[in-house]
Amino acid sequence: MTVMPFALLPDNSALDTDQMLMIGGCRVDDLALEYGTPLFIYDEAHLRARCREAVTAFGHERVVYASKAFVCGAMAQIAHSEGMLIDVASGGELAITLAAGVPASSCVLHGNNKSLSELREAISAGVRHIVIDSFDEMDRLEALHRPGGKVPDVMIRVTPGVHVHTHDFIATGQDDSKFGFNLRRGDAAAAVERAAASGAMNLIGVHCHIGSNVFDAENFARAVEVMAEFAEPLGLEHLVLGGGLGVAYVEGEQAASLSEWGAALLSAAADLKVRSAISVEPGRSIVAAAAITVYEVGTIKEISGLRTYVAVDGGMSDNPRPVLYGSGYEAFLPRAVTAPRVEGYRIVGKHCESGDVLVNEARLPGDVAVGDLLATAVTGAYGRSMGSNYNAITRPAVVFVADGDARLVIRRETYADLLATDLAANRRP
Ligand code: LLP
Repeated sequence: MTVMPFALLPDNSALDTDQMLMIGGCRVDDLALEYGTPLFIYDEAHLRARCREAVTAFGHERVVYASKAFVCGAMAQIAHSEGMLIDVASGGELAITLAAGVPASSCVLHGNNKSLSELREAISAGVRHIVIDSFDEMDRLEALHRPGGKVPDVMIRVTPGVHVHTHDFIATGQDDSKFGFNLRRGDAAAAVERAAASGAMNLIGVHCHIGSNVFDAENFARAVEVMAEFAEPLGLEHLVLGGGLGVAYVEGEQAASLSEWGAALLSAAADLKVRSAISVEPGRSIVAAAAITVYEVGTIKEISGLRTYVAVDGGMSDNPRPVLYGSGYEAFLPRAVTAPRVEGYRIVGKHCESGDVLVNEARLPGDVAVGDLLATAVTGAYGRSMGSNYNAITRPAVVFVADGDARLVIRRETYADLLATDLAANRRP
């Protein structure tokens, strides 16, 4: 028997007099009624607080928000207004960020296989710098260069050979990786040499990102050590240590705060007498815990003596993380947050796959019923951004709440959105 841990809910969560969960002063049932379900509800003050905490820890323009975790115009505006730069890993993420009014000079272009046109767009928009991932990318930058034309600032992404404790799919710092230039085999040194000598790019720093959802401080300390040793003789202006700070998703998990992470990384760098300015690129730790996803229960199926399935109106299309990585989440009923969760259920979505599971072994109050709102917590990162239209499901709306007001920042998709790119579907046979 467990109770939903309040610490996993957004900062500005409270209960109304009838026990209904409120976030940012808005009742969750009112939001579900107004915007429909599934619905992503983000606590805007929580988002801003995490941005501020990161900027206080590392400094103005020393924190680059990894927009892949959750990208939309409103989020880009918040990160920018709180003094962060924005990491865009595709032309699409750049387009969304620029359309929100964030200047290109606050955007950093990432990606292990940037196309010629993405590089061209980024340079002509005037991004702050490009993090180079391969020799082929250098060829493309050289091909794009014209005498007298813009020369982009660049960094070299280094694969430092640091193994981290996380899911294999999101570990990126080990030697055997598609990302970056291998340090141990000399590719990183060769890339630095080539970039420094090239007239098509201006080398300003080196970069690494060891992986995502990393809890072990030792992994980060090791990355600082390896990168400091590589970067110091180069005397470059910047050393970027990537993102990756883990967050607690389920009861009992403990993660360092952004301030603790900042103190640990900066003191490790100071001990090693690093002269370059240190930056980081957090994504998950800024947005994950700021949001919950609210669904409606549509079907409850009890297989006697075996299991009870609770099916909700979303699933792997709004949160593919359980299917991809076996990630755990806590489920709860917004009408009964403090009620003991006495019964075991499997929470599944509405997609045509047995793997469409949101919470494998969930606990809920025993009176869960069809028509109830059911929520999962800590869904603000890599949910909406990795969502899909599988089964031609329309993607959910996203609402930001603060001080009793709700602001729709991404509207729910409609069938017209699904049909917009389907040329034959618009014709009668
Ligand atoms: N910088 C670079 C170069 C990255 O590749 C990433 C994440 C980040 C920063 C931000 O990492 P964060 O602070 O969010 O851990 N879809 C996976 C996570 C993939 C992360 C990809 N790169 C998940 O849902 O766990």
